[in-house]
Amino acid sequence: MLDARTLPIDPARLQARIHELGSIGVHPNGGLYRALYDDGWVKAMELLRTWMEEAGLAVRFDAVGNLWGRVEGTDGGSAVVTGSHVDTVRQGGKYDGALGVHMAIAAVQALLEGVGRPKRPLEVLVTCEEEGSRFACSFWGARAIVGRIGAEEPEQIADADGVTIGAAMQGRGFDPARIGEAERHDVAAFVEAHIEQGAILEREGFPLGVVSSITGQRWMQVTVRGVQNHAGTTPMDLRRDALAGAVAMIGQIEQAAFRMGRPAVATVGRIQAFPGGTNIIPGRCEFTVDTRHAEPEPRRQLLAEIEGIVERVARERELEAAVEVIMDHDPVPMSTAIRAEIEASIRSLGLEYLVMPSGAGHDSEILAPRFPTAMLFVPSKDGKSHTPEEYTPVEWVIAGVQALAGTLHRLAY
Ligand code: HGY
Ligand code: MN
Ligand code: MN
Repeated sequence: MLDARTLPIDPARLQARIHELGSIGVHPNGGLYRALYDDGWVKAMELLRTWMEEAGLAVRFDAVGNLWGRVEGTDGGSAVVTGSHVDTVRQGGKYDGALGVHMAIAAVQALLEGVGRPKRPLEVLVTCEEEGSRFACSFWGARAIVGRIGAEEPEQIADADGVTIGAAMQGRGFDPARIGEAERHDVAAFVEAHIEQGAILEREGFPLGVVSSITGQRWMQVTVRGVQNHAGTTPMDLRRDALAGAVAMIGQIEQAAFRMGRPAVATVGRIQAFPGGTNIIPGRCEFTVDTRHAEPEPRRQLLAEIEGIVERVARERELEAAVEVIMDHDPVPMSTAIRAEIEASIRSLGLEYLVMPSGAGHDSEILAPRFPTAMLFVPSKDGKSHTPEEYTPVEWVIAGVQALAGTLHRLAY
């Protein structure tokens, strides 16, 4: 039986790599911003490719730019895969996605150096995009792996500068017509290590978490239309103010999630009023809604209540409102079989762990319906994420790498 605490895992190298990768893709207002196919993305992928080659992995980019590092198994068969995403949110931190990649490389490298070749093929996966930061779609890498990219997406979805995903792909040497070649069926298990992105593990004193299910989430773009008019000559009782209507909707949406209680959440991350002049009553207002719940029935109720709020406020204020669903996923349970391997690996380290739902979305939710998938959490200091203040002390990371290596050993050796 492997004692993962004896594996060659170098905290100093791990810390140095967190900072080196964490310096690629700086956002002008602070923090990180690495988006699908942008310059930071290319630089980050090249650095990860170098580290994966140094670890002894055969590396390749697939048809959409996911980076795979593979070591063949003595017995062949489907691969055991571990990894996470390279991209970040705007003004993001150094740990979301990236730490799962660092941990995957460190765990596989430690097993190859400390134990030798696996029986099954072992792979490190760096998905090309998960966050939906640049284009109004997310999980581009994981969806390509399970064949869930719509034929219309490459030409239909464009960034704020009007660059389509297809054009951005071609700019990096990837051919949208070959997206289907990224699909995989030969994966025996996928294990994703990730920061918790919340405060529960640290507050309750657990060094590690094991994810039971990943929350259901829906992203919407709400467009409210009224009548653009003069801010001085239009009496309050004659207005059809799109921004005022949106504000009324947003306040009621926030209260609906608040009244439902944890883990229900609803967030308006972006709002824009048009034309945006101080002395002009906005004729159009667009805002995003990100709403989540880990259980199907309360999630359905919350979604119905949000739709009802938008319709009612629009009607009362003689506005038009359109809701576009950008992304919608039901809660996704993790594989109990793979979870059991993670839990056994943590117990063999003599460590405690908390089984918990994930309030954040992950590549694992896309891969789980096709491959046996589970997730391992390391704590986030002060529960912060999607901010430059994201941080996990390297001592906490080491315990996670040992648990991950032990899990991969149980699955692939
Ligand atoms: O939004 C999320 O939960 C994830 O970080 N993409
Ligand atoms: Mn994220
Ligand atoms: Mn993430």
